[in-house]
Amino acid sequence: ISGVITLDPGYKNSGSCKSEITFLDGELGILRYRGYSIEELAEKSHFLEVSYLIIFGELPSVERLEQFENDIRKFTLVSEEMKIILDGFPRTAHPMGVLSALTSALTAFNPKSVDADNEKDMYDAVCKTIAKFLVIATWTYRKSMGYPLNYYDNTIGYVENFMNLMFKLPTGPYTANPIIIDALDKLFILHADHEQNCSTSTVRMVGSSHAGLFASISAGVSALWGPLHGGANQAVLEMLEEIHATGGDADKYLAKAKDKNDPFRLMGFGHRVYKNFDPRAKIIKKAADEVLATLGVNDPILEIAKKLEVSALEDEYFKSRNLYPNVDFYSGIIYRALGIPTDMFTVLFAIGRLPGWIAQWKEMRENKEPIGRPRQIYTGYPLREYVKS
Ligand code: SDX
Repeated sequence: ISGVITLDPGYKNSGSCKSEITFLDGELGILRYRGYSIEELAEKSHFLEVSYLIIFGELPSVERLEQFENDIRKFTLVSEEMKIILDGFPRTAHPMGVLSALTSALTAFNPKSVDADNEKDMYDAVCKTIAKFLVIATWTYRKSMGYPLNYYDNTIGYVENFMNLMFKLPTGPYTANPIIIDALDKLFILHADHEQNCSTSTVRMVGSSHAGLFASISAGVSALWGPLHGGANQAVLEMLEEIHATGGDADKYLAKAKDKNDPFRLMGFGHRVYKNFDPRAKIIKKAADEVLATLGVNDPILEIAKKLEVSALEDEYFKSRNLYPNVDFYSGIIYRALGIPTDMFTVLFAIGRLPGWIAQWKEMRENKEPIGRPRQIYTGYPLREYVKS
């Protein structure tokens, strides 16, 4: 029963939903955005083009994509008062908690995104969200380091701006390594949408009450933060680092993961839907090899990950439960090679997932879906009389 919510005609929108955006087949390990395979898009497209496809349903022409990128550039300035909110956080605050708060605060400075009932307001809300979310996401890192905040540079690309916003020094321009930009672009594509996962269904649920786009995305950020969901990419790296620090005995951790008296789970393994290989994990594993080789990074953590994967895939406990590496198992290794700090890994997941959240919120609003209201199976007391004891 748990997790199985059926569409009950008596209760509209009881939890399942219809969508034209993403198709995935957990048995066959298939993932498609608007009918295009994730393998083709990761190979041939780039993140803003895939974002446009996911949000508006079709691949844009060259001119239309250029217009989309220019429309995003119109909104890359973030209200200076947002810095006052940022200043209120301790430097030790987790970036995902800061990002969720700042995203919700954007509503105060962009009230029009609350309704987005007409096409123009909806389009502007989409461009605003894509523009401002990237800036405030990097501000969480700059804040944690006590560094001055950077501004979006409208003369360079969206993914390049991530590195520019994160690492640019006050003196002089930031020149990103194209290998890093390509790897990040591919990782953002792989994270862009994933049907009704925990954070996306949260965005749809919050948006179904006609809360605004920023408020709905803020709720999605909070859901993604959890270590069973997007927070897993940070937890994978921490797990691999612990294995490395304690002598590299992967089998010891495999045994822990199988011990029912031990709450430890092998992070980056298993999935609610994929009962075969997560197609994204295959692409990311290949990219990890390529990126580390090209950057000349020899990371013992990658070797431990590969050893752990081989042992788990041969292990009866994991095989019998169809536990395979998921999208989070290898992504952290690339992020680390790109110089991204561990507690920013889930923020990168959020940046990648943003177009999916926007698309699903937009679809739900344009379909005029009713407010979300899942029902329950009551397992409490039957009627009983009030007797004072
Ligand atoms: C993401 O939904 C999405 O699409 C999410 C996502 C996306 O793109 O949005 O794909 C991103 O969240 C990927 C998942 C990242 N999370 C992790 O890597 C955390 C570790 N994984 C697990 O906690 C777990 O596999 C889940 C949460 C991902 C899935 O949990 P399920 O489907 O509810 O699995 P389950 O709890 O029913 O487990 C079935 C069995 C249990 O054993 P038994 O009771 O049958 O004896 O498998 C075991 C579990 O104990 N199990 C694991 C395990 N995952 C499941 N045992 C050890 N290590 C694991 N990782």
